[in-house]
Formats: sequence, C-alpha cells, structure tokens
Amino acid sequence: MPDPLRLGIAGLGTVGTGVVKIVQRQAKLLQARTGRPVVISAISARSRDKDRGIRLDAYAWEDDPVMLARRDDIDVFVELMGGADGPAKAATEAAIAAGKDVVTANKAMLAHHGHALALAAEKAGRVIRFEAAVAGGIPVVKALTEGLAGNEISRVMGVMNGTCNFILTKMQHDGLTYEEVFDEAARLGYLESDPTLDVGGIDAGHKLALLAAIAFGTEVAFDKMELEGIERITIEDIELAADMGFRIKLLGVAQMTGRGLEQRMSPCLVPDNSPLGQLENATNMVVLEGDAVGQIVLRGAGAGEGPTASAVMADVMDIARGIRLATFGQPASGLAKAKSAKASIPAPYYLRIKLQDKPGALAKIASVLGDAGISIDRMRQYGHTDPTAPVLIVTHKTSRAALETAIAGMAGTSVLVGEPFAIRIEVV
Ligand code: NAP
Ligand code: HSE
Repeated sequence: MPDPLRLGIAGLGTVGTGVVKIVQRQAKLLQARTGRPVVISAISARSRDKDRGIRLDAYAWEDDPVMLARRDDIDVFVELMGGADGPAKAATEAAIAAGKDVVTANKAMLAHHGHALALAAEKAGRVIRFEAAVAGGIPVVKALTEGLAGNEISRVMGVMNGTCNFILTKMQHDGLTYEEVFDEAARLGYLESDPTLDVGGIDAGHKLALLAAIAFGTEVAFDKMELEGIERITIEDIELAADMGFRIKLLGVAQMTGRGLEQRMSPCLVPDNSPLGQLENATNMVVLEGDAVGQIVLRGAGAGEGPTASAVMADVMDIARGIRLATFGQPASGLAKAKSAKASIPAPYYLRIKLQDKPGALAKIASVLGDAGISIDRMRQYGHTDPTAPVLIVTHKTSRAALETAIAGMAGTSVLVGEPFAIRIEVV
C-alpha cells in the first residue's frame, strides 16, 4: 500500500468543512486518481465545540494552528483561516520551516506576502499552491501555470468578486439602490467579515495581483494596483449606461505595456452583449489572452463551500501525484520586480454630467473636451422637468490625464451642476 498523503487542516469554516466533506465522501476516487490514500490527520479552528455538521472525531485537534503546522503526522498544511497576517501567516511560515507543503485559499496573505513565502518555500524545497485563492472554483491558476505555459500572456482580465457582481446585477434587474442590495448581500452571507474588502475592490485586487505575477513573471505587486470600489455607483449610472448599450462591472485588468505593468481593479463599462457584460449574479469570469492561444474565457462559481473546496482539492491532488510546481509558475528568485506603468493605456470613457439648462451650456462642455484633445463619439441629453439637464457623453479613446484636465475645465464653465462622473469603457 503506498503511503497516504496526510493533511493538517487549519480553518473549518465555509471552505474548511467543504474540504473535509470531499476527503470523506470521495476517498475512493481520490485514491484511484492519485494512486495513494488522501487522509486528514489533524485539524484546528478557533472553537473546538462548534457543531460543523460533519464528523471530526477521527482527527487530532490542535488549538494552535502553528502547532498543527509543525506536527510530524502531516505532509501538507492546508491553510483555510484567512487574514493577511496573524495566525495564517505564522502557521504557513511554521509549516514551511517544518518541511511541509502548503495549500491555501488565502489571497490576502499571498497578495501581501506571496513573494517572501514563495522564496522561503523554494529554499526549503516545499511548494505553496493557491488555486482556491483566485476565482473560487474556476481553475484559473492551473490554466495560467500549466495550460497556457507556452504562451506569452498579453492580458488578464475579469470579474473576480462575486459579491460586487451580485450587487451590480441585482441593482440593475430590481431597480434597487446600492444600499438596499448591500443589505441583501449581507443577509445572504456574501460579504467578507470586513465588507470593504469586497465593495472597495481590495479582495478582487488581491486576486488580480496573484494572476499578474504568474502571467508576467513578476513579483506580486498588489501595492502598485490602481484600486476603486463600487460604492459610488448609483442605480442612475447603471440605468443610463444600459441605455447606451453597456453594463457596469467591477473589472480587473492586468497587462504588460511598453511603459510597464498596468494593473487596475475598478468599475468599468463593458458592452452589454459581451461575455463579461452578460455575467450575472455572483458568478466570476476570467479572460486570458496569449500570443499562441488567443483569447480564453473561464466562467464559474467564484466562491462558496463546494467550488472553493474543489479548488483546494485540485492542489492537494497535485501534491499527492508528485506534481511540484513553483508557486507563481517559475522559481520565485527569477521573478522580475514589476515596473509599474504610470498611466493606463488610453480608452474611451463614459461621462455623466448635469448641466444648467440654458443656451450654450452644452457647447461650453464640448469646447472644454475639444481643448483637452478629446473627441466625442456619442452624446445623449435626456428630457427633464427640473432646471438641470442630464447629459451622457461617450468619448473616443483618450488618456485619463486628458480626461481629468477636461473635468477640471468643466468646473470652470459655470454651467455644470455637481461633479461629473466618469467611467472607463473597457474594450473586451
Ligand atoms: P470562515 O468561514 O470565516 O472560516 C474561517 C475558519 O478559520 C473558521 O473555522 C475559524 O474557526 C478558523 N480560524 C480563524 N482564526 C483562527 C485561529 N486564530 N486559529 C484557528 N482557527 C482559526 O472563512 P472561509 O470563508 O472558509 O474562508 C477561508 C479562506 O478561504 C479565507 O482566506 C478566504 O479568503 C478564502 N476563500 C473563501 C472563499 C469562500 O467562498 N468562502 C472563496 C475563496 C477563498 P471557528 O470556526 O472556530 O471560528
Ligand atoms: N468575497 C469573495 C467574493 C469570496 O465575493 O467573491 C471569494 O473570494
């Protein structure tokens, strides 16, 4: 009988219990596919007494995940607690030092410490795998590190936070305000314990930073990411954008340009008939572009017990099979320091403004745009009963800097009411 692969699981919440269930339910299948039993030796969580709806009495218990990580009877430390620092990082470091491989779903920890952890693991001859950390059940890390390994990747893009996509699509379909749908997302248990991680774009930014490291062979550079959340999006924006043939998505884009690495996670407009525009509810979608393969679109559940545990098990299975890949697809010591692009490449923009309804007002705005070198593609003014006229403008491609110059210029026209609202239109 071949030696079993012995797991130590720290964290028995949504993802941890999902992993335990797969190991228990699919024991025969896991053995058939890897050629050896995959077993759980020991577990850890905060509360030993909590009823988790699964049998755990066969496993040794540790109160301290660091002690779990050091146990002699485990081969793989499965970190499913979460948090960029604290016990997750301490236990991961302890596991590597004790000669264990690590499987984690923790995008926050890897976005902040991924490079240092990968270097430490490689020095110790261990692996760190993180399929579950990005887009839940979608095997996007595998797609990049393995399936597309022979490609030069030009762009990685996608909707990687299910909560934000749920909020934006629900606002659109039910005509509800951001605040109303946010409360529903909270009731449904979609939000992270700190909801600003979701709606502030941080969680999705963590995921994009990890994909960018693999795609472009660079050290994880989450601190260089341009980040904007969805808190400012109103139902009016969603409805007006729809009227112009667009959907608003919290979209991540990472691409290597001649000026350096561009990474941004921000609300963008995408054509409503594009695959990204059609993405509903909490589903995730990742678009990968390679020189040989062209464009690949991956779509699926980005969160939840089953999908995330499925991704954790993919990593566990690789280790059981003896497949040992570098954390970010190549030795961490060979990853380049990312030179960040100072500005994103030009794009069309959608601009929503309110004007005083008086002769020459629109002409003044058009003239400010012209002075900034911005050409108008489409424009629409809506009927109104109050003295302010809502106007939508879609520009041709322009730089963010030119747009900001124009917005500053509009403030000096004396015809503007309130602040203009601008969103980039992503060509997908
Ligand atoms: P969760 O439901 O909040 O579970 C966290 C678990 O960690 C709990 O069992 C908790 O113990 C345990 N824990 C927390 N602090 C601990 C400590 N100091 N010592 C020992 N155990 C501790 O979280 P989750 O949703 O399963 O997420 C786990 C990880 O997966 C996170 O990194 C998350 O970002 C990532 N992830 C989650 C999803 C998802 O859909 N949920 C998707 C992708 C990635 P108690 O149960 O006793 O409180
Ligand atoms: N809060 C995350 C989301 C969970 O909504 O996508 C999965 O990482």
